[in-house]
Amino acid sequence: MPARNHTQWKEVPGQLKPGQWVDSRIYSDPDIFEEELEKIFKKVWVPVCHESELPEPYSFRTSSIAREPIIVVRGTDNQVRAFLNVCPHRGMMIERQPAGSFLEGRPSGNPKHMTCMFHGWQFDMKGNCAFITRGEDGYQERLKKEHVGLRRLRCEVKFGGFIWVTLNDQVEQTVEEWAAGCFDCIKDAIDTEPLEVFHYHKAIIGTNYKLWHDTNSEFYHDYMHYHNRVTGFNDEYFARKNVPFDNGHVNVNSFEVKYDEYDGFESRSELSFPKFPPNQWYMVDLFPGMNFNLRGSAFRSDVVTPLAPDKVMIEFRGLGLKSDTPEERMIRIEHHNTIWGPFGRNLHEDLIAVTGQGSTMKTGSEPRRILHGRVEDEYIHDENGVRHFYDHWGKWMNRLPSDPMKEYMVAAE
Ligand code: FES
Ligand SMILES: [Fe+2]
Repeated sequence: MPARNHTQWKEVPGQLKPGQWVDSRIYSDPDIFEEELEKIFKKVWVPVCHESELPEPYSFRTSSIAREPIIVVRGTDNQVRAFLNVCPHRGMMIERQPAGSFLEGRPSGNPKHMTCMFHGWQFDMKGNCAFITRGEDGYQERLKKEHVGLRRLRCEVKFGGFIWVTLNDQVEQTVEEWAAGCFDCIKDAIDTEPLEVFHYHKAIIGTNYKLWHDTNSEFYHDYMHYHNRVTGFNDEYFARKNVPFDNGHVNVNSFEVKYDEYDGFESRSELSFPKFPPNQWYMVDLFPGMNFNLRGSAFRSDVVTPLAPDKVMIEFRGLGLKSDTPEERMIRIEHHNTIWGPFGRNLHEDLIAVTGQGSTMKTGSEPRRILHGRVEDEYIHDENGVRHFYDHWGKWMNRLPSDPMKEYMVAAE
């Protein structure tokens, strides 16, 4: 059959069924995007940062979820707490720096307090209002400190020390329940001893956040990754399975990576994470777009912040063991960067792929089918993990992924 005319191009290819593709408007439609922020991102747990980024009492880190500014702080009791980074007075963003400490005073801030620079209201590390400038003069008895604490957010430290926050006070599940067992495969490796972030960068990428999650969730695209082909693509690689979990999460099972098959690389067995077999590689793909990737000696996390239908901010972290000696840490950093750094052999290839997709799925692009139809008994090049994700996406959104202007129903396979 030659290339296809417009009518043929719009037909269902082959015998694929509706659950085996999605409509590209789920990646490009502004109304769907806004709905995702409301129905998904304002409801779920988000790993906003890692506890090692708040090393001492008064350390803070700012972030955002679904456009709402967030601040996490470590209290004098060592507890990590999360708040909206919004002043209850006139709505100013309280802290504008990405990270730092409230321990020392600043020109517009008292020591040991979060101070809103606009009119100087102060808050303690528990989010209580500690001082209203000229309070009684202006408000008399009508408004006191206890009426204007910060908006507290539910927060848990879980799974290797990540700080999970949700905007949803009514969230029904703990982080552990939400994960539904998908961290079990790496739990011992990341929870035996404290971890520490040694690498952070963020990138704003011209694509939809789900396309980034797809590339973390399907391995058929290892054809693009020369390094992965050379160090994998053996019988053990093809025996890996994609394992679906409740809530739309997926694991990609492990195998032994043959690092020494790649010119200039060597085995990473010496610095394996605790209780983790040498050179193993597990992935945890967490709905709606977070990824945890343990390649034996280095742990990477991706956290997505959707900015627009065709724009996503991705925060990349690399983690090692807090107990690393300086020499061990240097080796871990090298292991991390040679795969996932700017001159590494993997990350930028994924970014090229998803920006290529992003450029064909702009608002107004003709809707087209994006195929997730590989069925191989859930082995590594099966796309069952991606189908599982979109089935859950459809339920949250009450939209049919293959025809998003229709209501959700279980897709025929
Ligand atoms: S807006 Fe924060 S003190 Fe006025
Ligand atoms: Fe990839």
